[in-house]
Amino acid sequence: MQKIPIYQSPEDGRLTAAMLADFHASGVIVLEDFVAAAACRALRERMQQMIDEFDPAEVKHVFSAVEQTQLGDSYFEESGDKIRFFFEQHAFNERGELIRPKQLSLNKVGHAMHDLDPVFDAFSRTPKLAAAVQSLGYLEPLILQSMYIFKPPHIGGEVICHQDSTYLYTEPESCTGFWFALEDATTENGCMHFIPGAHKEPLKKLQQRSADGKLVLTTLDATPWKNSETLATEAKTGTLVIFDGRAPHLSGPNLSDKSRHAYTLHVIEKGSHYPAENWLQRSADLPMRGFTH
Ligand code: FE2
Repeated sequence: MQKIPIYQSPEDGRLTAAMLADFHASGVIVLEDFVAAAACRALRERMQQMIDEFDPAEVKHVFSAVEQTQLGDSYFEESGDKIRFFFEQHAFNERGELIRPKQLSLNKVGHAMHDLDPVFDAFSRTPKLAAAVQSLGYLEPLILQSMYIFKPPHIGGEVICHQDSTYLYTEPESCTGFWFALEDATTENGCMHFIPGAHKEPLKKLQQRSADGKLVLTTLDATPWKNSETLATEAKTGTLVIFDGRAPHLSGPNLSDKSRHAYTLHVIEKGSHYPAENWLQRSADLPMRGFTH
């Protein structure tokens, strides 16, 4: 069985030939100390400010971490070019009230902080990350979405095995995920798990909007994932995990006392066709951008 390749981050961000070979063999690569701890802390603090300004009474949208998306919910479906807040499934009591403080109840915030907030913009568009993306072979990379994932203590839900290209599909497929540990991610607090090499399997599911406007998840290949081959991918604060849009991954629930904050970006190639049937659509006022400011 393959291992997950782990390297110390290249200083300038550019992946070496050995790193690229491992990434292409595994579909995933872990780069430790890619981001300074101070930058991670600054992003966490900025998110805390955004939460302080957010009134949960306005929305009570639960994100199904198990199914990855919320079907039939315009608050979610129209969030591709906004900053919106999604709660954990078990955040509310039977009267619909939050059981815990709001910052300990959120599943995630998405999906355009990288374009709408200056602090997230700066974190997302460093020369180092641009160099990493370029070294993967992108000609004109575009940042499609950003997500801040909380995985809060005790109620942080599990995410079942999936491929991100199911939800972020282009023709040809061009999606790559960039996952930053803003806090230490461990097996106890719900770190990511990958099946190395399984990105060479077909795209198993595709979510597209049907003619009646509803998002539909279609099975393209019913072969089950080899769940016995998943490997826990623990990551210290500042680690960047890069993974292919076809790389199957999952994360367990957070049953510990520690939160597991992470920030993710997904990048696509500008020259690829982006279907109008994808859930994530941007308004003409806020076109996707690459890594230049
Ligand atoms: Fe994912």
